[in-house]
Amino acid sequence: MNGSPKIVITGASGFIATNLRKHLSEKNVKLISISRNNFKEFRNEQKIISKNYDPNILLPKIKNSDALVHLIGIGKQSIKINYETVNVEFTNHILNLCKKSKIKKLIFASGLGVSDKTSLGYFISKYKAEKLITNSGLDYTIFRPSYIVGKNDLLTKYLKKQIKNKQISIPGSGKYSIQPIHISDVVQIIFQSISDIKFKNKTIDLVGPNPLSFEKYVKLFSKGTNSKIRKISLEKYYHTAINNSKSDFGIDDLNILIGNFKGDHKKLQNISGLKCKSIIKLLESGSLF
Ligand SMILES: NC(=O)c1ccc[n+]([C@@H]2O[C@H](COP(=O)([O-])OP(=O)(O)OC[C@H]3O[C@@H](n4cnc5c(N)ncnc54)[C@H](OP(=O)(O)O)[C@@H]3O)[C@@H](O)[C@H]2O)c1
Repeated sequence: MNGSPKIVITGASGFIATNLRKHLSEKNVKLISISRNNFKEFRNEQKIISKNYDPNILLPKIKNSDALVHLIGIGKQSIKINYETVNVEFTNHILNLCKKSKIKKLIFASGLGVSDKTSLGYFISKYKAEKLITNSGLDYTIFRPSYIVGKNDLLTKYLKKQIKNKQISIPGSGKYSIQPIHISDVVQIIFQSISDIKFKNKTIDLVGPNPLSFEKYVKLFSKGTNSKIRKISLEKYYHTAINNSKSDFGIDDLNILIGNFKGDHKKLQNISGLKCKSIIKLLESGSLF
């Protein structure tokens, strides 16, 4: 890559994409960001609004870019939209766009827990997307993130909403483990993966250094807020999730939460050389709130 790279980002108004666009813009990377809806551009950024990522609109604009970061995905299904369409077929569409526009590198956010043994619909769709990518002949980096936390992530928004009412409900025992990573580390690592050969054709867990129980996470997050933590039966959570596609926790949100997935942080650290922030320390300092 000579000079400043030109990077395409899909799903531009999403949580990871918005943070990544800001970071890359500050690093003077030239951006072409695509979304279905209008959004405010950062410096060095060209925006494309396209509902269905129409090749006729996109190809002339994105051709010969250095890499594409594919951040489109859904984690909840409804009668209007399903995993196969968004997580699998859309990924295939993006791969075809990359090939036609001679973009050689693709970066993708899959999910921690994805494997060929999985029985979860969401993970199956991510697994199929991973397979399309690894078989595409493009250079790729696939990240499998745990919870990515920072301002405006879904978990933080959920907890803040509950804290306002001085009562936090947690599904089941809360003893299952999560391994969050901070968004500021995530955007640095994605930036690095665009050009660093160490990331080439790798599938890497995107996880923080400290696995911790969900209960501990919630306790530390809400420390000093006088909020009461209530454990609500999983049955109750699942009943709500099954019958309401707009519930706070969808079925797969619950499956992922209680799935107890742990990732290989050491591998991430070895490849990136980055010392990721300790989520426990961030929680203790109150800076995640
Ligand atoms: N955040 C996490 O903790 C986490 C953890 C594991 C995996 N991931 C994966 O990382 C990716 C990005 O996550 P995120 O947290 O940034 O999610 P997000 O905020 O929900 O953003 C996803 C974006 O996907 C686009 N999108 C959704 N449905 C679409 C459709 N039908 N057609 C076209 N575009 C559509 C939207 O972009 P526009 O509105 O701009 O069109 C949306 O903003 C997802 O694939 C997710 O599964 C995230």
